Amino acid sequence: ADAQTKRKAGKPISADLFGIFFEDISYAADGGLYAELIQNRSFEYTPADRWGWHSFTAWEYVTKGFGYGAVNVESKSPIHPNNPHYVVLTIEEPGQEGIGLQNNGFDGIAIKKGEQYNFSVFTRLLSATPVPVSVQLRSRKGEVYGEVSFTADAKEWKKSSGVLTAQQTADSAVLVMVAKAPGSLAIDMVSLFPANTFHGRPNGLRADLGQAIADLKPRFMRFPGGCLVHGDGLENMYRWKNTIGPVEERKAQRNIWSYHQSLGLGYFEYFQFCEDIGAKPLPVVPAAVSCQNSGGTWRIGGTGQKGLPLEEMPAYINEILDLIEYANGPATSTWGAKRAAAGHPAPFHLEYLAVGNEDKQTPAFRERFKLIEAAVKQKHPEITLIGTVGPAPAGEDFEAGWAFADKNALQIVDEHYYEKPEWFLENKNRYDSYNRNKSKVYLGEYASRGNTWFNALAEAVYMTALERNGDVVRLSSYAPLLARTGHTSWNPNLIYFTGTTITRTPNYYVQHLFSNNAGDTYYPDIITLNNNKNTGVSCVKDSKSGDLIIKLVNAGETSVAAKANLAGLVARHTNAAVTVLTENVTDKNAAVTSATDKLEVDKVISYEVAPRSVALIRIPAN
Ligand code: AHR
Repeated sequence: ADAQTKRKAGKPISADLFGIFFEDISYAADGGLYAELIQNRSFEYTPADRWGWHSFTAWEYVTKGFGYGAVNVESKSPIHPNNPHYVVLTIEEPGQEGIGLQNNGFDGIAIKKGEQYNFSVFTRLLSATPVPVSVQLRSRKGEVYGEVSFTADAKEWKKSSGVLTAQQTADSAVLVMVAKAPGSLAIDMVSLFPANTFHGRPNGLRADLGQAIADLKPRFMRFPGGCLVHGDGLENMYRWKNTIGPVEERKAQRNIWSYHQSLGLGYFEYFQFCEDIGAKPLPVVPAAVSCQNSGGTWRIGGTGQKGLPLEEMPAYINEILDLIEYANGPATSTWGAKRAAAGHPAPFHLEYLAVGNEDKQTPAFRERFKLIEAAVKQKHPEITLIGTVGPAPAGEDFEAGWAFADKNALQIVDEHYYEKPEWFLENKNRYDSYNRNKSKVYLGEYASRGNTWFNALAEAVYMTALERNGDVVRLSSYAPLLARTGHTSWNPNLIYFTGTTITRTPNYYVQHLFSNNAGDTYYPDIITLNNNKNTGVSCVKDSKSGDLIIKLVNAGETSVAAKANLAGLVARHTNAAVTVLTENVTDKNAAVTSATDKLEVDKVISYEVAPRSVALIRIPAN
């Protein structure tokens, strides 16, 4: 009877098991989720971002109608010292069409017929008479898709804005901004956003990509990286305070993945997005050391300095404590007031904070990590702090990371691994033997190497094991989430996109199925099947809906008979919904076929799991 009661009670597992990992890699932020359509809007690109880039990258000087003048990049009296460069346009003769600038966007500017686009720009008039400026969305051949105008008339920096309505759909338009009278003006922060951003937020995110992410129903979102967090030199570390406040005052910086971070998508926008999609925010801050504690010695300008000097640690620790106040403090607190000023007086309910990313377990790292951890624990015991155990699934740093975690009784540690699909099948029991009394696990980055259906199946098998071990694995996130086709710094990814398209990979559909059907109680010993390395099963209950959810994964080539004994869990005969994912062999863009059906459920379910499929049986509460 005891065994029966135990069986019926199940074991509590993490309600936050399935989340997402967002890193600004492969144009995931600028040119990606961040909806800004103008590339290099503030003329801050430099050769350090990428070889050959400069202040005028993505821009062209246009003098089509026989006008003439000059364009220069200058830096005297900028809008803000954090945003030092701007363009000076001098118009000697505007010609018939005016002279000025053209921006080519990120692989062109994608627009949709009938949709509105919010244009804005900062100008400073350098000549005596005001200069009228025309702004057009055009095809590269000159066809006009939408137009607005303004007059540069202020001697100090002034923001002008207007709305353009697209008269055509085009995936590769350009923005042309030309002055129509002689004069001279300084220009900066040229911006164009679709009016339709995700949840209509200003300075917002791409609606379609935001929705594809929201559809995953992630329980948490880790941001802003990855390696991006620690950077490849102390000056390249991601400092959250540089990413809040008016966008024209944010300090752009080099992206470790060889491009540029405008930081227009900054901490406020991350928190806001998390709230909009119902995900708990999980920021990762650097542990005051840069990539592999190297100080970026492999690149030009790398100082080799291993970590922030110890005398700078008190200030750095305050920076982290301020982040907690920014997220959770009352609107009357110093940093809570900045959140309120950005339009969000209510707190963002930060629960998790990760410190470090795959850091080498050196004395420099450990010393700094311990200082940060002690300060956070002391001032904010309510925050769950997540440490790092370096690149996994094994190896020197991994072992050393765990030894450090054990010694310091860390609450949760972050494991990362990218392996072949076979590895995931062969290692599906990895967490069964983890010591329940030690640190818990955040599987912060994982992926089987590839986007085939077999990769997705291997991950699905593994995810059933994550559920089985949801008492020790508290959080998990596939990585990376987003990549712009043609700009991938890393493969595979969960979602690929261009300016107009979104491709959900087979791996996405598996994440979607698991995350939308997660539970918080796990029932062992419910399902029997011919268990082999290609199969994975789980039975969980979602306490919110009361539904019982069975997942049956078969990555093998032959069908497998499964039986679920629900005695004590299902009170009466009922109808369950069955969803089966299989490979879509006819339409590669759809990747996966999802078929739904009904199943009559009694105390015992018998189900034949088709080869290469994931079956989900959702039994409503009764
Ligand atoms: O996910 C891509 C990269 O893989 C991350 O930036 C890093 O943490 C890991 O090595």
